[in-house]
Amino acid sequence: MFEIEKATAAIDQADNLEALDALRVQFLGKNGEITLLLKTLGGMSPEERKEKGPAIQALREAVTDAIAARKAALESAALEAKLAAERLDMSLPAAPVPQGSVHPVSQVMDELAEIFADMGFAVATGPEIEDDWHNFTALNIPETHPARAMHDTFYFPDTDAEGRAMLLRTHTSPVQIRTMMSEKPPIRIIAPGRVYRSDSDATHTPMFHQVEGLVIDRGIHMGHLKWTLETFLKAFFERDDIVLRLRPSYFPFTEPSAEVDVGYAQEKGRRVVGGDGDAEGHAWMELLGSGMVNRRVIANCGLDPDEWQGFAFGVGVDRLAMLKYGMDDLRAFFDGDLRWLSHYGFSALSVPTLSGGISA
Ligand code: PHE
Repeated sequence: MFEIEKATAAIDQADNLEALDALRVQFLGKNGEITLLLKTLGGMSPEERKEKGPAIQALREAVTDAIAARKAALESAALEAKLAAERLDMSLPAAPVPQGSVHPVSQVMDELAEIFADMGFAVATGPEIEDDWHNFTALNIPETHPARAMHDTFYFPDTDAEGRAMLLRTHTSPVQIRTMMSEKPPIRIIAPGRVYRSDSDATHTPMFHQVEGLVIDRGIHMGHLKWTLETFLKAFFERDDIVLRLRPSYFPFTEPSAEVDVGYAQEKGRRVVGGDGDAEGHAWMELLGSGMVNRRVIANCGLDPDEWQGFAFGVGVDRLAMLKYGMDDLRAFFDGDLRWLSHYGFSALSVPTLSGGISA
């Protein structure tokens, strides 16, 4: 005997759509319990059919309704579960997560450009493949000069059309020559870029970076040089207690020449620039080469050295980066190790500005 309460209870307890469909077949399928009841109507007398018919139809409707209601409930529960499982956290940062970083050398070059732009310097560039006239001869380093041998130069096997030896520039100083020959003074430029020397250990790599500074104007003297370097180093290291010491030195292209030392202290195993090198616990470290541009160099560029004077300096960019950001092995700069790059690299959005902070 079919019992409607048991049937609807079973339907209400069906816990998934497959179980519910099995019940539908059990009650309403071709040989379902209610289908069989409906079939018994055919064998009844009209009176009996009138009496039983509506009751059986009512059972069929009740079961159909119960199945529909349960189906709706199961479907909405499945939707809820799916929504919960696929929930999006709108507070997560946008994907993809930023990848890549600005290399410390690029960052420092941007910092230099920003600092010197504020002092009225433009950025100049020159070729990395140079001829020996621009790299040496014009800079007062003739062929027989021992400085040529000191530079550990990479030469190309062939000369250029004019018979000049071709080489990878050993310093950024040839940009001085190119600028003086192509621009009229007054000149104020910095020239950052790659330079090459056949040399390799923890503090030397065959390719490294320099920045050259050049000022050509009337009445320029070493006081201008010292002020410029002091102003630059204070802005770069972001501290006012930078103390410089100019030591007499020799470069063929400057006369007089000065090696510039900066005072530093040893803190937590690393050199921190600042303070007087002669003070307690402080020392001097050699930082850059500089001097008044040699009269012969000015004349080599077609300018009258009686009218135009100037100063020049050259400093290692990688060295500046190491001192400011605390790396201790230069070779790691050029290994391309992603762990090093993500540790020492800078966000592309942290653009150095004097107003916003040079190291951003
Ligand atoms: N070109 C020199 C070097 O590479 C540095 C320097 C530049 C010195 C300008 C004086 C003036 O060692």
